[in-house]
Amino acid sequence: MSTKPILIAQISDLHIKPLGALAYGRVDTAKALERCVATLNAFEPAPDFVVISGDLVDTPTAEEYDHLKRLLAPLRLPFAGIPGNHDSRELMRAAFPAAPYVHAAGPLDQKIEVHGLDLLLLDSSVPGKPHGTLETSTLQWLDTTLAAAIDRPALIFLHHPPFKGGIWHMDRQDLFNADELAGIVRRHPRAQLIGCGHVHRAMLTTFAGIPVTICPAPNHAVDLDLAQLRVPSFKVEPPAFHVHAWFPGQELGQLVTHQVPIGQFDGPHPFFGPDGRLL
Ligand SMILES: [Fe+2]
Repeated sequence: MSTKPILIAQISDLHIKPLGALAYGRVDTAKALERCVATLNAFEPAPDFVVISGDLVDTPTAEEYDHLKRLLAPLRLPFAGIPGNHDSRELMRAAFPAAPYVHAAGPLDQKIEVHGLDLLLLDSSVPGKPHGTLETSTLQWLDTTLAAAIDRPALIFLHHPPFKGGIWHMDRQDLFNADELAGIVRRHPRAQLIGCGHVHRAMLTTFAGIPVTICPAPNHAVDLDLAQLRVPSFKVEPPAFHVHAWFPGQELGQLVTHQVPIGQFDGPHPFFGPDGRLL
């Protein structure tokens, strides 16, 4: 019997520019995504699904979405994206017209079922603004959808974190109506995790009684300035993504989030020799 859990990979904040352009004149986000796709394709066992939690492109333009699609073409896993503050709902809808959007217009919310797990993708983008807000239609849909199947675990994804992580210039542009999200999450125990992006670096805390994570980016990270010492800055730190592993079991099973570094590394090497002794 296979012991493989259901694996939901999460990548975030790709910030794809037109071909040949660097983000902030310095970061090759296309090359970073190529490495990320290669790491995802090589990951064993293969993830069951990939969520891209916002800022798929940078400006945004149709040319950037075309470039993004070319870079994602080698990805051998099913995926879905949600908008961040650098995205355009209209351009994303045009770039990915087959996605199962809940609404005919407005926020690009989606529900994706993966082997007994519900992925609820919320569009927190506010056109033209860096902060996030969940629209009334999104909140109502989330509440109704969570109420519809109480025995299936649900993972919620959105771009903007519903908490302040301590980096002053990012905290000013978080999810402005986090209280409304909290009220819904507290009503529905099947919500197991909230996975976010936006800050380009890993964070973990609790929110409304459940874990909430921020997935790091494949490119640059927002500088970890926890005392307002510097102007808003970034660093090119080791890139990574998240793999949320769900182990079905009693009640709603168990969810564990792993951080996976992007790249090729020495190993794996066995701990034990052919004689069974520790090497
Ligand atoms: Fe971003």
